[in-house]
Amino acid sequence: MFKNLEDKEMNVVIDGMEAKTFQPNDMVITQGDDGDELFLVSMGKLKCFKVFPGNTKATFLKTYFAKEIFGELALLYNTPRAASIQAIDSSVLYSLDRQCFNHIVKESAIRNRNMFETFLSKVEILQSLDNYERGRVCDCIEMVKISKGERVIKEGENGEAFYLVVEGTAIALKYNPNSKKEEKVYEYEKNMYFGELALLRNEPRAASILATSDMKLAQIQRKAFKRLLGPLEDILKRNAKRYIKFLVPKKK
Ligand code: CMP
Ligand code: CMP
Repeated sequence: MFKNLEDKEMNVVIDGMEAKTFQPNDMVITQGDDGDELFLVSMGKLKCFKVFPGNTKATFLKTYFAKEIFGELALLYNTPRAASIQAIDSSVLYSLDRQCFNHIVKESAIRNRNMFETFLSKVEILQSLDNYERGRVCDCIEMVKISKGERVIKEGENGEAFYLVVEGTAIALKYNPNSKKEEKVYEYEKNMYFGELALLRNEPRAASILATSDMKLAQIQRKAFKRLLGPLEDILKRNAKRYIKFLVPKKK
């Protein structure tokens, strides 16, 4: 959410932040209240829960740790707080008020979300995420332009990012030690993804990805991938079975 800010804007945001301390069990945000600040966790642990329509009991949603942000929805969309947040451990939070948020962050965050929300809603692998989770993915996307003939990923290198194809086409190439040649093992078009294996398995890139046209890619860095797409890990691992038929046979 803050990554597109210029240095000067970032300094205003940092200056505008105020440290607040919460004790275990303190409510930081109560569902349904008006909200005038978002919070960045500096230290501590908090839980987020929500009473869904038709229910009387709250459903646990997630735990927040250091470096995470919450309370952004009320500021972005001028809505009541969508969930409650309560401290588990004593926690130090940095709060950013609505005025500073509106002035500096809101416009670029909304622009980014508008740009990617429609695209992400069409990507099959992201279907099981809810709107909130998809919104968080939007905040982390960096748009990358690749020219025809460029390699986005090189087999054997370390992997630091995951990619979704916004526009264009590409192929995956894998080195076959038997023929001593690279062979085409996969084709990509709009709304498909690649680059997940190295991040899921902590292994070097298993293939190269070559752009066969000019491309626009949505790039998600390793940390954000682990944090935001963690719920998809099982589906991604299951989907990886489709590569098995292309495994290069071992030399006898
Ligand atoms: P906000 O609505 O301002 O206040 C409650 C916060 O809980 C919300 O912003 C989000 O930052 C956070 N939250 C975490 N998970 C969810 C979820 N699934 N739906 C809505 N809010 C959530
Ligand atoms: P990763 O290993 O991170 O980087 C290369 C990517 O190519 C890989 O993730 C997969 O997303 C993709 N890929 C496509 N076909 C294959 C294949 N046959 N074997 C391995 N990876 C493949």
